[in-house]
Amino acid sequence: MGVCGIVGYVGHRPALDVVLGGLRRMEYRGYDSAGVAVLDGAGRLTVERKAGQLANLEAELDAVGRDGFAGTAGMGHTRWATHGAPVDRNSHPHRDATERVAVVHNGIIENFAALRAELEAAGVELSSDTDTETAAHLIARAYAEGDTAGDLPASVRAVCRRLEGAFTLVVTHADRPDLIVAARRSSPLVVGVGAGETFVASDVAAFIEHTREAVELGQDQLVVITRDGYTVTDFAGEPAQGRPFTVDWDLSAAEKGGHEYFMLKEIEEQPDALANTLRGHFDGSGIVLDEQRLADQDLRDVDKVFVVACGSAYHSGLVAKYAIEHWTRLPVEVELASEFRYRDPVLDRDTLVVAVSQSGETADTLEAVRHAREQKARVLAVCNTNGAQIPRESDAVLYTHAGPEIGVASTKAFLAQIAANYLVGLALAQARGTKYPDEVAREFAELEAMPAAVRKVLSTTEQVRDLGRRIADSKAVLFLGRHVGFPVALEGALKLKELAYMHAEGFAAGELKHGPIALIEDGLPVVVVMPSPKGRGVLHAKLVSNISEIQARGARTIVIAEEGDDRVRPFADELVEIPAVPTLLQPLVSTVPLQVLAAEIARTRGYDVDKPRNLAKSVTVE
Ligand code: AGP
Ligand code: GLU
Repeated sequence: MGVCGIVGYVGHRPALDVVLGGLRRMEYRGYDSAGVAVLDGAGRLTVERKAGQLANLEAELDAVGRDGFAGTAGMGHTRWATHGAPVDRNSHPHRDATERVAVVHNGIIENFAALRAELEAAGVELSSDTDTETAAHLIARAYAEGDTAGDLPASVRAVCRRLEGAFTLVVTHADRPDLIVAARRSSPLVVGVGAGETFVASDVAAFIEHTREAVELGQDQLVVITRDGYTVTDFAGEPAQGRPFTVDWDLSAAEKGGHEYFMLKEIEEQPDALANTLRGHFDGSGIVLDEQRLADQDLRDVDKVFVVACGSAYHSGLVAKYAIEHWTRLPVEVELASEFRYRDPVLDRDTLVVAVSQSGETADTLEAVRHAREQKARVLAVCNTNGAQIPRESDAVLYTHAGPEIGVASTKAFLAQIAANYLVGLALAQARGTKYPDEVAREFAELEAMPAAVRKVLSTTEQVRDLGRRIADSKAVLFLGRHVGFPVALEGALKLKELAYMHAEGFAAGELKHGPIALIEDGLPVVVVMPSPKGRGVLHAKLVSNISEIQARGARTIVIAEEGDDRVRPFADELVEIPAVPTLLQPLVSTVPLQVLAAEIARTRGYDVDKPRNLAKSVTVE
């Protein structure tokens, strides 16, 4: 889960400086809170943590006095909140009641509610709303009693065996200023090996100014670091090996995972963004939305759905409309947030308004939410930023877990929005009985197979980049699609506009003959998003005839088609193959080549792919 920043250090230098430096180097990842813990060697564990930017933490450290943070072992954390708003008491490190154990965590402990209940039943008072805090109390208990008593690594292993979800955990105990324990499952963790000093981090950027010798840990592995080195085991305590490597990136590249731009890294993070967004939302018998959810009866009362959003988030609503209407038989209107409240839309208390927003701060969407609330409609936010204004003003929220998206052009957040919108649709269908439990389970299983499908389509990246370089000087590109391929065409055109400043337009392919075909001229690149040739195939046949119409007029056809689609091959000047997936899920794979194409054309034109001109990541003005 590429969410936030973690760094741990045991060595000969002042730990506070090393840890703060590491957090600074990971600031680019986006975060909402920060904190540090230092072991002073005389049995003291000192912690400071603050919501907001790293500067808030630094100011707090100055206020309380940094001499209380003397010691050569310590750890730090930048948080991207998933459970509990970004306020001081939810910031990491989290401690147990004795304040002798400190834990920082990246990811989500899915079974935290059960663990929380167990701890409260045992009389433990928790002081935060986070999932992470449960781990601190459980580790303290395992260290205090039973067969792992007094053994910190064994205590951490015992607790890791009980955790479900995705996590990178780093644990310190005041008794052991000579070591730090770290563990990972489905979330990054690397060791940095220095001379008389050792690091753990979620990202090599945190320590490569000190050492480039790194060791990547594998799934369900735990590492103990001391100033003299490290030891790796699995969660059962058996010896294990990490993967040693030398970091040959410079700091700037390290921040981008070796890529030239954050957007390119974020395109590659899409499988994880999908997996992390879906994680925990099916409990074996049905869909489970987030804690701040609408009651089933509210979902049953719904007689109409509006999706309101802007830009790519709006396109994610257009995609989801096909699925939600198909699954629930409810009418779904997808509306640009900036238009929504000025057109006096028809809505009332039985209308569900789904407000989709990565930042959760978009003014147009926030105003649409306020208008919907005034009309007594129920509002569910789909948001990637915990504690943002839009979720705060909504009745319910379903968080995407794409992690911070740095590139202004939305990629992993867009795919995560589609997946989250689908979860809303399935939850509606489930509550209303328009889908049987086994049908909901099957649809969810198909969604869970999508991260692997997206990983597979990422293998076409080089082919698409080559194509991008070859059409980079075109004066325009058109995008065509039908059914769920139509909003994908719109998204592909938006990516090209906002990244390469090139005229691009998406059309419903059936609309060509009603005017746009006049735009076709010799050599004009036209991207066509093909539906599967399987099934009824009627759409496929119509789109093939659309392609032949434009090819006859000189268009250069760039076809995104399901692998093995031999019927469309003769009509494709360029053919990009994507894995065969269910019709409604195809946007999750067909969008990826369009993202890569736009980024490569922008790069070829010499533009800043991460920060396109005139654009802001979050548009907080109307
Ligand atoms: C998409 O690539 C753009 N960055 C933009 O259209 C964005 O999707 C839109 O501004 C909505 O932002 P939000 O999801 O944060 O509300
Ligand atoms: N789930 C934890 C929290 O919300 C960690 C989030 C993160 O990865 O920063 O505090």
